[in-house]
Amino acid sequence: MQQEARRLLQTGKTIAFVPTMGYFHEGHLALMREGRKHGDALIVSIFVNPIQFSHSEDFKTYPGNLDRDVSLAESVGVDLIFAPDTGAMYDNAFQTYIDLEMLPGYLCGTSRPGHFRGVATVVTKLFNIIKPHAAVFGEKDYQQLVVIRRMVRDLNLDIKIIAIPTVRESDGLAMSSRNTYLSEDERRSSLSLFQALKKGQGSAAQGIKDAKQLIREASELIRAYPYTKIDYVAVCDPETLEDVDLVDRPALMALAVWVGKTRLIDNMILKPIED
Ligand code: PAJ
Repeated sequence: MQQEARRLLQTGKTIAFVPTMGYFHEGHLALMREGRKHGDALIVSIFVNPIQFSHSEDFKTYPGNLDRDVSLAESVGVDLIFAPDTGAMYDNAFQTYIDLEMLPGYLCGTSRPGHFRGVATVVTKLFNIIKPHAAVFGEKDYQQLVVIRRMVRDLNLDIKIIAIPTVRESDGLAMSSRNTYLSEDERRSSLSLFQALKKGQGSAAQGIKDAKQLIREASELIRAYPYTKIDYVAVCDPETLEDVDLVDRPALMALAVWVGKTRLIDNMILKPIED
């Protein structure tokens, strides 16, 4: 892959890159379509990264279908898929990590210690292997996007980071490879995330500024659905991810909810009423 990337660069080509863990859905394909606009060559990685999963998480059962992914990628104009095996990315003596100081201390980082260290490390490795000019990430994983943006700035990586809005099913559920874990009943309850965020947006737009109240309303709505267990509901600064008390400027409402044995995340920007 590194030789191929070097060859592309030597012939004056620009490279756009979309990192993924595979099992593509429309969200992934939207990133690829955007990526197509940002480089002469479009490269997608498929790699289920062990170091971003804790022992209790779904690394071993993470869904995959390489043949299906290859044909979907071809259909949106991907030039090259990089799908290394675990040993090629991490040999037995591997010991170098990228760790951010503050951003992993919030939201998903609290319940998934080490997760963003794993993400930042693998994305850095992929950037070094693929040498892209631009890379595309989804707002669905909002904290991941903020972490990558910060890392790119902090380490002076010469890569343009492009963000794509969350792609949803027709009823509002954010697309995710993990949605395939849901039973029919759980699938109905999974709508609580979208409904809670919409409620938050509606209340903020009607003038409710108190973050605690917004969080309470959203949490009550989620709890009313069976099989749900809230990991967190937060209203925070969209850049630092610190909690805010008052929504008097745009704030991020982010949530993580267990639906049965599946942990789902979603987020939306709340905009206050103009006064
Ligand atoms: P994965 O979950 O496969 O997601 C790959 C990219 O697709 C991420 O940028 C994610 O935010 C984006 N994405 C997922 N669902 C989306 C949706 N419904 N709408 C828009 N974009 C969506 O995120 C990862 O993989 C990994 O952490 C990775 C960055 C590859 C590092 O291992």
